[in-house]
Amino acid sequence: MKNIVVLVSGGGTNLQRIIDCIESGEIPNAQISLVVADRECFGLQRAENSGIKNVLIKRGKDFSENLSKILPEDTDLIVLAGFLSILNKEFCENFSGKIINIHPALLPKFGGKGMWGHHVHEAVLKAGEKQSGATVHYVTSGIDEGEIILQKSFDISEHETPESLAEKIHAIEYEIFPEAINLVLNKDKW
Ligand code: GRF
Repeated sequence: MKNIVVLVSGGGTNLQRIIDCIESGEIPNAQISLVVADRECFGLQRAENSGIKNVLIKRGKDFSENLSKILPEDTDLIVLAGFLSILNKEFCENFSGKIINIHPALLPKFGGKGMWGHHVHEAVLKAGEKQSGATVHYVTSGIDEGEIILQKSFDISEHETPESLAEKIHAIEYEIFPEAINLVLNKDKW
C-alpha cells in the first residue's frame, strides 16, 4: 500500500477527485495518509468529511520545516493539489522525485512566481494563445520548472474567459492527475 500526503490551499476539488479515485480503485493500492493545508480552506473539510487525518500548518517561512517534522516516515508521494506556498530548496531536495504538482497551463509557458489561478488564465488570453491545458510535473526548487509527467491541451475558443478556461482546465485535471499519480507510484523510483 502506497501512502500519499496531499497539500492544499483551496477548494480541493482535485483532492476530492483523488479521494474518489482511491475509493473506486482507479488509483489502486494507495491511501491518503494525511492532508496538510497552509491556510483555512474547504480542502481540509473534504479530508475531514472522508475521515482522512488532516492538519493546518500556517503558511510562512517555517512551513517546509514544520511539514518535515510531521510528515509520516512511510510517505511514498507528496501531491500538491492547488497548493499555494512555495516549498523550500532543502525540502524539495530531500524529497526529490517524490513531490508532484498540477499546474493550470501548458508548462513551460505561464509558470513561475505569481502564475496561479486566474492570473494564469488572464495571461494566456492576453498573450493570444491558441491552446491551453494542464500539466502535472515533479516539484523542484525552481517554481514550476520540474520534469513534466503528463500534459493535456485543448483549443481556446473565440469567446473564452478566464472563468471558462478554469472550468475546462479543471475537467482536464481530473483526468490527468489520477493518471499521473498512478504513473509515479508505479515507477518505483524511490
Ligand atoms: C487547479 O486548477 C490547479 O491546477 C491549481 O490550483 C487549482 C486547484 O483547484 N494548482 P482545486 O482546489 O483542486 O479545485
